[in-house]
Amino acid sequence: MTRIAAVSLNSAVDQTVRVPRFAVDAVNRVEASRVDAGGKGINVASFLAHLGHEVTVTGFLGRENAALFERHFAQTGIGDACLRLDGATRTNVKIVDPVLDQVTDLNFPGISAGPEALEGVGRALGALLEAGLDWVALCGSLPEGLPPETYAGLIRQAREKGARVALDTSGAPLAAALSAGPDIIKPNIAELGALLGRPLAGRDEAVAAAREIVAGGVGLVAVSMGAEGAVLVTRDASLCAVPPGIEVASTVGAGDAMVAGLIHAATRGLDLAETARLATAVSLGALGEIGPHLPPIDRIEDLMAAVGIGAA
Ligand SMILES: Nc1ncnc2c1ncn2[C@@H]1O[C@H](COP(=O)(O)OP(=O)(O)OP(=O)(O)O)[C@@H](O)[C@H]1O
Ligand SMILES: [Mg+2]
Repeated sequence: MTRIAAVSLNSAVDQTVRVPRFAVDAVNRVEASRVDAGGKGINVASFLAHLGHEVTVTGFLGRENAALFERHFAQTGIGDACLRLDGATRTNVKIVDPVLDQVTDLNFPGISAGPEALEGVGRALGALLEAGLDWVALCGSLPEGLPPETYAGLIRQAREKGARVALDTSGAPLAAALSAGPDIIKPNIAELGALLGRPLAGRDEAVAAAREIVAGGVGLVAVSMGAEGAVLVTRDASLCAVPPGIEVASTVGAGDAMVAGLIHAATRGLDLAETARLATAVSLGALGEIGPHLPPIDRIEDLMAAVGIGAA
């Protein structure tokens, strides 16, 4: 079994409400509602646990509503090394309108965290690294109060202890982390374009952009492009993965599932084509579920066969 730590600095409670014919400036009736422990780091941890890994989460939770996360960790067998901060973990509300086929997101700001809180995460990660970690997943935006170099520092800390690192973030924290040499990054095409300061149109431009990042010392760049699939680029190879047309239940966690799939593939020593196939299948698995969940493993294996792999 592989030991993995996921770092979740900006966790979220994901509340999904179903409102047929949602209207602004009007009273709306909620038909159904569900609440999930979420945020990118928590999602990646949940998916990796589902795929059979021994997973611990560190990062921040608000003390006021930590119980939801504690229940989730207990149910999924995830280790809890999260610091508790004063206040409540933010809630992100997703209003799903099945009639008009629209989704409206209300994303709250997270709790802010200072340097002392970050030192606490460094100590928690340090203890996990001492006990032995194969992979560290760093996922999501940074809370207010932490510098853009935060992930760069955590990457160096992990790599010094021999752990490999996957990073999924955007903007300044991504730009500042590249020189620390993460093993895997998974920007979507817009995030990669923002990183390089030019919009990227389509697969060829995504591959060229990913090659620039690989040349700077990142092991694998997986650029996701929603329904168009993804391109995967390493120093030696590049290819594209094309998903089959599928019925989407919710897009929540598709990118996070791809991150988990990339790490899972690496722990199994798969080549680039099989990595692309597996990571895409895991993302398709998440798309078939409401909220950040995956189907049983045999369903993911069936989905693998439907992913097209081509030259890029
Ligand atoms: N509509 C879709 N149909 C088929 N596959 C999809 C669709 N949307 C996403 N995917 C799959 O999920 C992967 C990741 O999706 P996407 O590029 O939207 O990630 P993201 O922008 O990082 O999302 P997130 O909001 O979760 O961070 C894609 O590479 C693809 O395999
Ligand atoms: Mg993403």
